[in-house]
Amino acid sequence: MKIQENISLKAFNTFGIDVKAKFFAEVESKNDIIEALTFAKTAKKPILILGGGSNVLFTSDLDALVLKVNIRGIEPISQDKDKVILAAGAGEMWHDFVLYSIENNLSGIENLSLIPGTVGAAPMQNIGAYGVEIKAVFHSLEAIKICSGRTQIFLPADVNFGYRESVFKKSLKGKYIIYKVNFNLSTSHVPNISYGDIQKVLKEMNQAKPTAKNISDAVINIRQSKLPDPKTVGNAGSFFKNPVVPVEVYKKLKQAYPTLPGYPSDASQIKIPAAYLIENVGWKGKKLGKVGVHDKQPLVLVNYGGGKGNDILELSRKIQLDVQTKFNISLEREVNLINDKSLIYP
Ligand code: FAD
Ligand code: EPU
Repeated sequence: MKIQENISLKAFNTFGIDVKAKFFAEVESKNDIIEALTFAKTAKKPILILGGGSNVLFTSDLDALVLKVNIRGIEPISQDKDKVILAAGAGEMWHDFVLYSIENNLSGIENLSLIPGTVGAAPMQNIGAYGVEIKAVFHSLEAIKICSGRTQIFLPADVNFGYRESVFKKSLKGKYIIYKVNFNLSTSHVPNISYGDIQKVLKEMNQAKPTAKNISDAVINIRQSKLPDPKTVGNAGSFFKNPVVPVEVYKKLKQAYPTLPGYPSDASQIKIPAAYLIENVGWKGKKLGKVGVHDKQPLVLVNYGGGKGNDILELSRKIQLDVQTKFNISLEREVNLINDKSLIYP
């Protein structure tokens, strides 16, 4: 493992923010991780774990050791009539893993096609799209505790998944390096096509009895039509979470704003699309210097080139203030804000 010094992270985050890491290394095995922890301890530097950099916003240079997790490998670890447990290295690209599962006639994650980033980051915020979250297929994960170097196995009950949440985004934030994730995938396909435009697109594709591959293709088609490709314009997907409010609050808002959409989150709460709120306060398609709000999906903030992390942060705060003022709803950030102060020492 090579430890490099003073490396720009511009190519390692999808916002394309140009900050420097004091030290940078790509880890390809558990041994590399242990070696890196020893280095950081001796150098008295904190650690940042990075996957594909598609859900981070850097707001300062990092006087730290940045570890890009490149641990690869996909293998079945158990198999029965209906189910296969598939293990994947944290550095596998998520979409490649989805395609691998489909090619091997396994289903459960086809609705999560084309989500950028790595397998290892997927449990962090319980990635979700088109009616599925990884919570539904999560078996377990294996991680190394930064402060002790010890290996630990996490089962579903330990991870505490929620909407765009897990224990790794809360009390254990930055404290573990996930190196392997194990998934329960199904050998018989039960299509999940209830969300959004999937049915419409499948109809256009003439697929009355869709396979997992058909659903994956439909999801790819929808995503490409509305989400900006980070290769063309810097972004990290949805910048905020969709707010979840009590039914009573939603009903009152709906009286004032009859077009306000809302979807039951559970028996007593409604999820409101933040995109609607942001569009309604006038930010959709707006620019603020080198950064702005995407013109097709206002939940996505974009860096048109040369924008700094603090420019995005400032824009996000203006949006939060306007939404708070008009709707009395506070938008919570989905993207992980990373600066020198947010990191953990080994
Ligand atoms: P990174 O951005 O590298 O890291 C994210 C966080 O996880 C950081 O705090 C990092 O320290 C931590 N982390 C990363 N790897 C590890 C590890 N191995 N061990 C411990 N901690 C780790 N998300 C969705 O849920 N649904 C979507 O539909 C979706 N669409 C997107 C569309 C676009 C165009 C983009 C750019 C992003 C989208 N996202 C979506 C967000 C993002 O793709 C996911 O959050 C993804 O899981 C991030 O993976 P990553 O490897 O890039 O993580
Ligand atoms: N809308 C508007 N104006 C717009 C666009 C959307 O008002 O310009 C409203 C519409 O009412 C629309 C609704 O927002 O029906 C929902 O839009 P969309 O289907 O695009 O989904 P989203 O709620 O904005 C969420 C996730 C995405 C995920 C999609 C599909 C969050 C924070 N975002 O977006 O995840 O891909 O659903 O499931 O939950 C991500 O997390 O980075 C991400 C992209």
